[in-house]
Amino acid sequence: MRMRAAVLEEFGEPLAVQEVELAEPRAGEVLVRLHACGVCHTDLYTASGADPSGYAPTVLGHEGAGVVEAVGPDVGSLAPGDHVVTLFSPQCRECVHCLDERTNLCLAIREEQNKGHLPDGTTRISREGEEIRSFMGCSTFAEYTVMPEIALAKVSPEAPFEHACLFACGLSTGLGAAINTAAVRPGSTCAVFGAGMVGLGAVAGCRLQGAERIICVDLSPQRLELARGQGATDLLEGGEGAVERILEMTGGFGADYTFEATGNVAVMGEAVEAARMGWGLCTVAGVAGRGETLDVVPRLLITGRRIAGSSFGGVKGRDQVPVLVDRYLAGEIDLDPFVSHRIALDEVNRGFELMEAQDGIRSVIELA
Ligand SMILES: NC(=O)c1ccc[n+]([C@@H]2O[C@H](COP(=O)([O-])OP(=O)(O)OC[C@H]3O[C@@H](n4cnc5c(N)ncnc54)[C@H](O)[C@@H]3O)[C@@H](O)[C@H]2O)c1
Ligand SMILES: [Zn+2]
Ligand SMILES: [Zn+2]
Repeated sequence: MRMRAAVLEEFGEPLAVQEVELAEPRAGEVLVRLHACGVCHTDLYTASGADPSGYAPTVLGHEGAGVVEAVGPDVGSLAPGDHVVTLFSPQCRECVHCLDERTNLCLAIREEQNKGHLPDGTTRISREGEEIRSFMGCSTFAEYTVMPEIALAKVSPEAPFEHACLFACGLSTGLGAAINTAAVRPGSTCAVFGAGMVGLGAVAGCRLQGAERIICVDLSPQRLELARGQGATDLLEGGEGAVERILEMTGGFGADYTFEATGNVAVMGEAVEAARMGWGLCTVAGVAGRGETLDVVPRLLITGRRIAGSSFGGVKGRDQVPVLVDRYLAGEIDLDPFVSHRIALDEVNRGFELMEAQDGIRSVIELA
């Protein structure tokens, strides 16, 4: 079939929205009609050419929500009409990691996904016979996508698409960092560094876990106000002195749980230092630049602090994204403040500009 999609032709150039060809879903694959898609830093990172593992041409986008249009052979868990959220982090339910509760890092399709292929080593998108690779296994800056069944979470049809798509990436990452990775205990004190989509999700996750005090740190006063709306009790300007302030606010000890959601290794270090002696757990969610390292004084660890990394918030997507969406539908999370701009597919490059200007949290592409 023919469809419109935003193609990355050359790194550093604007995406080109055009007609491309999409092939039928094969075994284990699903055709999804996309209704909404968030524009994320990872898309821009690849578009800019900064990502050394990036490739082109490709259809970017990985924060999609839509409706199953058709299924290929051997698809058992999805049927036409189902509402789905795309998962760059799949869940096969069979590999050694899927069978272990300690991780969400499914091993089933990693290698082919990293190469821009579907699990059978080919692509479904093309243009006059030339293959166009899939991005993060999703390619959702498009009217349709074909994805593996194991990379789609079936969610409640009650959820508006523009909110459902937020669960495909940053929001679930932040919520899951607090709920899964840190498993914040009720009554705790938490400190969240960064109030973008991930940090705000972490603030909401700490609140859902029953944290008593949630300190949010960011450079932007507007973003800190959004954090207050998600349950932050204390707002702090980031930068020099932030760690000292957190220590002062916690009787000199530090927070029971700290979260880093900036991607800045210096801030990761601050998050370790702001964690409580004895049992403080620092959860790192930000993605650092290539080659950057985290510098930690070992004494901080000997005296009881721990550091954990969190990919997609430790969320096993097919099992947990539907549960998170249900919690949102039950009124536990307010997502309206996160959708800052609604744009058309043709305006995808404006979505990048808005993100670079830090204008709002998410621009959402409305597709249908
Ligand atoms: N682990 C995962 O699976 C996963 C998933 C999605 C995103 N990420 C990563 O998480 C990070 C955050 O993503 P986002 O979409 O929320 O980004 P964002 O850029 O929207 O937010 C980052 C925030 O950090 C703030 N910040 C910058 N310097 C600071 C400082 N010194 N102190 C306090 N705050 C500071 C910025 O003002 C901004 O509000 C990125 O590195 C992103 O790549 C990770
Ligand atoms: Zn994303
Ligand atoms: Zn798996």
